[in-house]
Order: sequence, then C-alpha cells, then structure tokens
Amino acid sequence: MIYLDHNATTPILPEVRDVVRSAMEQHWGNPSSTHAMGRAAFAQIETARERLAAIIGASAKEIFFTSGGTEADNLAIMGTLDRYKDGEVVISSIEHPAVHDAAHSLASKGYGIRQIPVGNDGIIDMEQLEKTLSAATRLVSVMYSNNEIGTVQPVGEIGRKLAARGIPFHSDAVQAFGKIPIDVSKDPVSLLSISSHKIYGPKGCGALFVRNGVKINPRTFGGNQERGIRTGTENLPAILGFVRAAEIARSTLEADAKTLFDLTEQMYRDIAGRIDHVLRNGHCDKRIPGTLNLCIPGAETESLLASLDQEGICASGGSACSSGSISASRTLLAIGRRRVDAVCAIRFSLGRENTLSEIRTAVDVLEKVVKRIRLANK
Ligand SMILES: Cc1ncc(COP(=O)(O)O)c(C=O)c1O
Repeated sequence: MIYLDHNATTPILPEVRDVVRSAMEQHWGNPSSTHAMGRAAFAQIETARERLAAIIGASAKEIFFTSGGTEADNLAIMGTLDRYKDGEVVISSIEHPAVHDAAHSLASKGYGIRQIPVGNDGIIDMEQLEKTLSAATRLVSVMYSNNEIGTVQPVGEIGRKLAARGIPFHSDAVQAFGKIPIDVSKDPVSLLSISSHKIYGPKGCGALFVRNGVKINPRTFGGNQERGIRTGTENLPAILGFVRAAEIARSTLEADAKTLFDLTEQMYRDIAGRIDHVLRNGHCDKRIPGTLNLCIPGAETESLLASLDQEGICASGGSACSSGSISASRTLLAIGRRRVDAVCAIRFSLGRENTLSEIRTAVDVLEKVVKRIRLANK
C-alpha cells in the first residue's frame, strides 16, 4: 500500500498514540470535577492549552479546544454572525465545505453571503475583496491554504486590509497548520481553525484561536467548559495527543517542508515527462509542500482512483468528504478549469513517511493506468 492522501488524514504517530493511551489510563477524571482526579485532568488540559498556544504565538486564553476543524470553522462563522444578528459574511470561492456550507446555512436565517473569486493560481482577488466589503460585512473567511490544490493565501495582506476597516478575519488553517509556519502574533487574523488528524494526531480534535478582544457566541449549551464557548466534557486524551503531534510537527516543520516540496516537484516532473497533456492545478510555489493536484484529460477521476486503489495506491479526487460522489470540484471550476478537465482531477498529498521509491512506483502505476483508461475512452 502506498498512501498519498495525507490531506484527507494522516496515520497517528506511535509517540502520540502512547500519549493518548496513557491519558486514557491515568487522566480519566472529569476536568470539571472538583476532587483530585478532576483537578489533575483539568491541569493536564490547561498545560496542553499553554503548549499549543506557544506553538502558534498565542496566549493560552485564546485557545478553545473543539472536536476538529469542522466544528472550529462552524463556531467561528456562526458564532460571529450570531453576535451581530444581521449583516453579511464574505468567503472565498474555494473554501472547504466546513466554511462554505456553514456560511450558506446562514442564508436561511436572513444573513447575506458574498463570495470572492480567485485567480487561476487559486489566490484570492484582492481588488474584488476590497469592492465586496461594506458596512454590512461582519466577517471575512479566507482559508490559509486550500485542501485540494494547496495554494496558500496572502493572509497577512488580507488581514491588514480588514484590520484597517475593523472587520474580523477568520482563516481556516486546517491544511496549513503543522506544514508551514503559523504565528498569530504576526498574522493579523481574528480567528483561526486547526485540526489534529491532519498532523499525525488523533481524529476528533482541533482548536479555534480567538484573538483576545474578539467576541463570538457559543453553538453548544450545557456546562461551562472552554469558558462557555465550546461546552461539553473535554476529550482529554485526544487533546493531549493533538498537542504532542503539534509539537512534533513544529520541531520537524522546516526539514519536512523541504523534503516534501522536493518530492512533489520530482513527482510532477516525472508525471509530466511521461503522461501527455497533464494540467497542474494551483500555485507552483505558494503552496503547502506535499500537495500535487493535476487534471489528466481523458482519464476521469472515478476510473483513476478505482484503478490506483486496485494497485494499492491511495489518492483522492479532491477533498475526502466529496470523494464518495465525484462531480466537478468547486475549487477547480473556481480557478477556471473547464468542467471536462475538472472531472479528470487527481490529488496526491504526500506525508513525512513517503519515500522517493514509493513516488517512483506510484508514477509507474499512474502511467499504466492512464494509458489503459484513455484507450478505453477512445
Ligand atoms: C481546509 C479544511 N478545513 C476543514 C476541514 C475539516 O476538519 P476536520 O476533519 O478536523 O473536521 C478539513 C478536512 O478535510 C480541511 O481540509
């Protein structure tokens, strides 16, 4: 099996698994309990909060643990708009469904939704952003990097523009966190979402950074966990595993980024040299290092993925959430791909454990599979 789908999820690191297991065995007390077991569990979470905050340049009270990236995104968008009770949310045209669908769900409640286009490289159109902002804009949400094509947005530029107008800025950093440096002491974001299972941590855990002074309403009601912003008994083992995974990702980030960038470039060169008419999607440089998204005209995603799967290669057509039902990707259409090409997309997302020899094997198999599909389609 060659796993090239790390943007969907990553395997848990043995060291992180050990942290999760020992937390389950030792710190099973309810962090809200006032007795010794509860206090010990609470202390573990608070220490984890400080450690995670340190990694992204935040302070501990700005970190709110959630059940993952989806919940963090929903909380940021709905929690902000709910505070105002009116107005508009502005998102880019290539947001993950966790942002896109959350924003669109607000339409039925009377809020306005506006979308900003991106260029062919996937980078947001700054002029359009400027034109779209109005006195009714309550929040702008632009992802740090895209899950399908990997393009990294000019978060600093966007944030400074919005800060000058006093508009809160949310960025979905689920695909960027642990892969490129993120420092909220420099990045002018108000809210930022991150997730554990994209960085070799356990599933079902993430966090929302909420800058000191930025106010959001909760989406869940019950206890007073996470200072009432995200209620419900905390998933302590997952939180401790997440934070350990984040520390490991931070300590190996620069070296991993270089290796992965070079490996994906090598993969692209090999594919482009051996398969005709391949189109590369997204920005070649301004991208998270392990992502390679291609359209291979004449070879539809569904056939490609099924054939690769039969040969033991795990890849994706876009986001994992949509790979059960393959239709043209919203992101690829937004960057100007024709529908006929967009339905022939494949995403390889590489991770730390991939080797050059795996990539060579994957390219050999891809070449064979594409030949077969194109011939059958003639
Ligand atoms: C950009 C982006 N945002 C949000 C999510 C959702 O994160 P989670 O799976 O932790 O809910 C994903 C997962 O694919 C993602 O890629």
